[in-house]
Amino acid sequence: MTSGASNDNAAASAAAPTPQRIGVPREIFPGEKRVATVPDVVTKLAKLGFGVVVETGAGDLADLSDDAYREAGASIAGSATDLWSSADIVFKVRPPTADEVALMHEGQTLIGFVWPAQNPELMQQLAAKKVTVLAIDALPRTLSRAQKMDALTSMAGVSGYRAVVEAANAFGRFFNGQITAAGKVPPAKVFIAGAGVAGLAAIGAAASLGAIVRANDTRAEVADQVVSLGGEFVKVDYEEEGSGGGGYAKVMSEGFQAAQRAMYAQQAKECDIIITTALIPGKPAPRLITAEMVQSMKPGSVIVDMAAEQGGNCELTEPGKAVVKHGVTIVGFTDLASRMARQSSTLYGTNLFRLTEELCKAKDGVINVNMDDDAIRGLTVIKDGEITWPAPPIAAAPKPAPKPAAAAVEKKSGHGHGPGGPMPAKTLAIIFAVGALAFGAIGSFAPAAFLGHFTVFVLACFIGYMVVWNVTPALHTPLMSVTNAISSIIVIGALIQIAPPDAGANGRPDQLILWLAFAGIVLTAINMFGGFAVTRRMLAMFQK
Ligand code: NAI
Repeated sequence: MTSGASNDNAAASAAAPTPQRIGVPREIFPGEKRVATVPDVVTKLAKLGFGVVVETGAGDLADLSDDAYREAGASIAGSATDLWSSADIVFKVRPPTADEVALMHEGQTLIGFVWPAQNPELMQQLAAKKVTVLAIDALPRTLSRAQKMDALTSMAGVSGYRAVVEAANAFGRFFNGQITAAGKVPPAKVFIAGAGVAGLAAIGAAASLGAIVRANDTRAEVADQVVSLGGEFVKVDYEEEGSGGGGYAKVMSEGFQAAQRAMYAQQAKECDIIITTALIPGKPAPRLITAEMVQSMKPGSVIVDMAAEQGGNCELTEPGKAVVKHGVTIVGFTDLASRMARQSSTLYGTNLFRLTEELCKAKDGVINVNMDDDAIRGLTVIKDGEITWPAPPIAAAPKPAPKPAAAAVEKKSGHGHGPGGPMPAKTLAIIFAVGALAFGAIGSFAPAAFLGHFTVFVLACFIGYMVVWNVTPALHTPLMSVTNAISSIIVIGALIQIAPPDAGANGRPDQLILWLAFAGIVLTAINMFGGFAVTRRMLAMFQK
């Protein structure tokens, strides 16, 4: 393809690598509807220099026809055998079955979900085939550069959204409150257990449908994210740090768990829908919803247990099924992402495309599995038949040395201060005392006029500080636009100039000043009305 006779430089032509073929088989896991690439992505892969071959019918269950792939530039393989034998690189969603591994050949590269910890036998089979395997589930998620390739996140996002759709389907009422001629309908109350990726997606979806959303997580740092998505963070009445590092939780103490159970029991009585997403990777799902809590829920309530596959957060969940127990529908589907196959295939395909970009920086249609790259090293679980999983931990970037004085103050007070956090009373008292002394000193020397202006200046600083510091960080953007609008107060200056009290004998100002003042009024009016309009639109995004 690239060694064409049109190339003048024979030496360069001889050195040009042969582009590789990416193969996309039909997923054979029962009920799996996703496919590892979509036509839009095929076009992008071709631009990187790759050939793409798709097994016939691979996209059927995601509403993507063979013709759509053909139009995007892919060729269609008539069978799985043809597909696997002709591809240098295979993109898959589910881990390969033993039959699929049998179709692989030496030197081939497999990219997809593999779950090496859960599938040691599969790892041995793949290694024996002398292939290279990139497990997308082993991507180091803490690297910000890796986010664009993070298929776990994109799949959990789709699943969180779908969990709300499943809940709405099983729930016999509106999510939003309504006042109709036929009567008043109260809004549904939704409680989300675990505010990780899936939980946050569920909060956003349920809030946008108009429900009252509450959420809890053992990691207190997610509280702001819950609020910014329209939910209310419900705290457990027990002080314990829940973060286990790397963005994941840790197993909590007995005391915490007892306090958490009491709070969940209360929420079960009050809420109509519970969506559970709590999980610590590598551990069985924590049992958060007991049979008694289910029994205490109102008839017609719904539980969607997203952790069903890991044993379930609810005692009564049956994985893969929707069952009704004590009048409550308990949904334990383990294929939520697959239930939105077209959307999840598009996101997954894009994640794999971003990974391919990283693997093929030269855009010559040939991948280079660079083991010196932290992200690539992390997800390479087998390299040319050699098991390279697990990857060594990524060395943390050196932290800037803390300023000793500032660090000491922070440690002593137990928490820093800043937007969303109150300043300790002692610090505030010291600042006031120093300020009062300085003010007294200035007052005894400075002229009276200066003192007046200075008082206004100090008060303005104080009010500005109190206003900004006590606003939730999520509302800082609308706050900025409203302060921008308020700053248009300078319009008063322009108005005075356009009709000054001490204008000339004819009562009119100088022509130049008049036009400048006119321009000033027009511009500040745009700033003022525009600022308030933008603020209104922004605030509307936070309102139900
Ligand atoms: P994640 O790790 O981002 O979130 C899990 C959250 O649970 C974390 O924020 C963690 O702090 C919290 N958590 C852990 N223990 C807790 C406890 N005792 N109480 C309260 N919160 C606790 O995981 P992600 O990606 O959001 O997935 C959530 C769950 O959904 C997992 O079980 C995952 O396997 C499942 N999932 C299910 C799908 C399905 O089709 N059913 C599809 C995708 C994900």
